[in-house]
Amino acid sequence: MRAKLVKDILSESPLSQEVKVSGWVRTKRDMKNLVFVEVNDGSCFAGIQCTFDLSRGETASSHAALAALNTGASIEIFGHLVASPASGQAVEIAADSLRLIGEAPSENRTADVPYLEIPAYPLQKKRHSLEFLREIAHLRPRTNTFGAVARVRSRMSFAIHQYFQERGFQYIHTPIITAGDAEGAGAMFQVTTFNIDALAKGRNRETGVNYAKDFFGKKTYLTVSGQLEAETYATALSRVYTFGPTFRAENSNTARHLAEFWMIEPEMAFAGLEDDMALAEDFLKYIFNTALENCASDLAFFDSHIEKGIIETLTHVVNSRFAHISYTDAIAELEKAAAANAGLFEFAPHWGCDLQSEHEKYLTEKTAGGPVIVTDYPKEIKAFYMKLNDDGKTVRAMDVLVPRLGEIIGGSQREDDLEKLCKRMLDLGMNIEDYGWYLDLRRYGTVPHSGFGLGFERLILYITGMANIRDVIPYPRAVGQANF
Ligand code: 4AD
Ligand code: MG
Repeated sequence: MRAKLVKDILSESPLSQEVKVSGWVRTKRDMKNLVFVEVNDGSCFAGIQCTFDLSRGETASSHAALAALNTGASIEIFGHLVASPASGQAVEIAADSLRLIGEAPSENRTADVPYLEIPAYPLQKKRHSLEFLREIAHLRPRTNTFGAVARVRSRMSFAIHQYFQERGFQYIHTPIITAGDAEGAGAMFQVTTFNIDALAKGRNRETGVNYAKDFFGKKTYLTVSGQLEAETYATALSRVYTFGPTFRAENSNTARHLAEFWMIEPEMAFAGLEDDMALAEDFLKYIFNTALENCASDLAFFDSHIEKGIIETLTHVVNSRFAHISYTDAIAELEKAAAANAGLFEFAPHWGCDLQSEHEKYLTEKTAGGPVIVTDYPKEIKAFYMKLNDDGKTVRAMDVLVPRLGEIIGGSQREDDLEKLCKRMLDLGMNIEDYGWYLDLRRYGTVPHSGFGLGFERLILYITGMANIRDVIPYPRAVGQANF
């Protein structure tokens, strides 16, 4: 008999049918002749209760195994699905037998061979700090919190593909190894097959490193964004998107930055900034709505244990319109607020400055009271590819800011004028030759086009209410951290 997923068992009606479930023990409780074992297999938030009635002959073969059963052990239980007399669950398994697959000792087991010494299972039934769980990232998916995060990530990935696929966007697999800096920010990880240790010993100190002899015959990096390559496909297939890993060697050790994160980047031809903003708003609402509808029990957990009110917030966002404000007006608002309250900001806002988290927080929580789209930033603080406005000072950029988190989306209309783009790149000291293929898009059949990037982990932070981005990706990579 094949075991069924707990998720499927819980949706069945209890007709005393035979079932087999496999999973890990979450709790075991003894009460007179009854032993209750809660089995979780991660297929959904809830586990299933399996009740052994020791007075029934059928359970006799399992008495010894039951007595030795610990939290975390892997087991198989056979029994019948019945209506549960207990509150909080519709069904349970009236268990006949138990097979212990793998033990999880509650005490240290010593042995002669060091590797065979087994420390007690670290996830004993109690609350563990998220910091502690980060150190055992390979076991943390067995906890309520990380199981729920993993399911939300999975469902949201599916929803993202669904959203774009249903709207005529083609999924483009942009490269992970690139020769160019898509954001022009210089925060890239180099990719090389050179022996760095040998180079460091100084063999090439005089001559410099000859990258023509490196694997790709030139200097290469891990991509910071698939945008530029996505643009090449948008100017052929009209609507495209990428969804892949991106890498940034920024030295920002914050709760919102990772060195390796996943990004969703749609790109639309024949579209301006207004279309881009409309897409961003509609897309986010669709994703939040999908989370509310399809991840209800996981969200209920986040709402009660992680961030109170998260469900209400998401529901509110789905039903409200995003506020819009230009960067110039936003700065004016911030300056006004700073003038009225001297200690309000650590960084004094002024036209030309990059918005700090505290500014983003003020704009979303005080000025807008919800998500806000800030547009038309000074060109100096944005990437080279953004379309220059007629004022010659600002670009057609837009950032979507949300309360609690700040920037969740960054996007823009792209400069489609060959001359303006070349001039901007030269002003920034970029090597135009390296971007010949990108400039070709403006030489042959150029069109207005726009797109944005959504950081997937920031999206998951927002949906789950988790506080640290390291806790919404299985194995976080950040400054000084690349374990597992
Ligand atoms: O604003 P960014 O840098 O924009 C781009 O990369 C554009 N190429 C996107 C585009 O127009 N196609 O990054 C986009 C988003 C940010 O808004 C943020 O959500 C996320 O990516 N992000 C990060 N997430 C986690 N860790 C980091 N270090 C991140 N840097 C950016
Ligand atoms: Mg940005």
